[in-house]
Amino acid sequence: MNEEVYHIPALLPETLSALDLRPEGTYVDATYGGGGHSRAILERLKPGEGALFSFDQDIEAIERAIPDERLTLVHGNFRFLTNFLRFYGVEQGGVDGILADLGVSFHHFDDAKRGFSFRWDGPLDMRMNQRARRTAADLIASASEQELADIFYLYGEMKNSRKIASAIVRKRGEGQIATVEAFLAVIKPFINPRQEKKELAQVFQALRIAVNDELEALRQFLTQACRMLRPGGRLAIITYHSLEDRLVKNFMRTGNFEGRAEQDFFGRNLSPIKLLSSKPIVPSDEEVERNPRSRSAKLRVGEKL
Ligand SMILES: C[S@@+](CC[C@H](N)C(=O)[O-])C[C@H]1O[C@@H](n2cnc3c(N)ncnc32)[C@H](O)[C@@H]1O
Repeated sequence: MNEEVYHIPALLPETLSALDLRPEGTYVDATYGGGGHSRAILERLKPGEGALFSFDQDIEAIERAIPDERLTLVHGNFRFLTNFLRFYGVEQGGVDGILADLGVSFHHFDDAKRGFSFRWDGPLDMRMNQRARRTAADLIASASEQELADIFYLYGEMKNSRKIASAIVRKRGEGQIATVEAFLAVIKPFINPRQEKKELAQVFQALRIAVNDELEALRQFLTQACRMLRPGGRLAIITYHSLEDRLVKNFMRTGNFEGRAEQDFFGRNLSPIKLLSSKPIVPSDEEVERNPRSRSAKLRVGEKL
């Protein structure tokens, strides 16, 4: 599979400029994917100098490592950022810039056997980390009706989440819902045909977020990323849906996920990080035309105080 098909990086020049790269600096790319952002960062580091630590929890991404002595590729979840970096001798305050381009790569959506897309039949899997214990089919088989309703309501913003959950529970009584096709047969009656693609995408996204515990991983990552940055270091996060964007925006504004401004006794702001612009950076029309899957990308940039 060639580079272009595996993934096309979104907001590439914008992200590089947000990171304010120093040629001899130490950087983290928390979501290596097809290596598009990592490659561009390496090109801007001095030959033989600088360091890049890139992470991915998907072994298929790791197997496509860019051969470069300045790159350390970590097969792991970015929620353990601090531990991994400490293992490689990087201490708190020792990183100049951290990037995360969240979600899944094109490769995930386009590979039927990974079960991420409603377009192809395959096992209902959706694990980004193939070694994780619980697939989407396992979750569908074991979660309570209330848990399922919460997943589709909170992560998929589906108004009829209770009806969907109840239909799943009824159907699974007849046998496991193990494939994308079997899952689609259960949920299709609850999907508005006039916006079928949009609603199916919402349901699949909800399940994917739950299977990979994506929002909790993001919270843990942001907290640790902020500690690892030196003062003045940059945090650049690309999100693809509003749940993630809200967490990132709140965190960069206030240092917590609720967006609660905290001040000390003298009225000084206690946030360890500053959001550089209240408006997110979004792809140009030209980028969306060239790479339609970038259309929902939002880049937020924070600076460690
Ligand atoms: C949108 S892609 C990144 C694409 C990359 N920027 C590029 O240019 O090719 C997101 C990648 O992050 C990985 N990923 C998502 N959540 C992760 C997590 N919690 N820990 C480690 N990797 C994660 C996915 O497996 C996927 O390969």
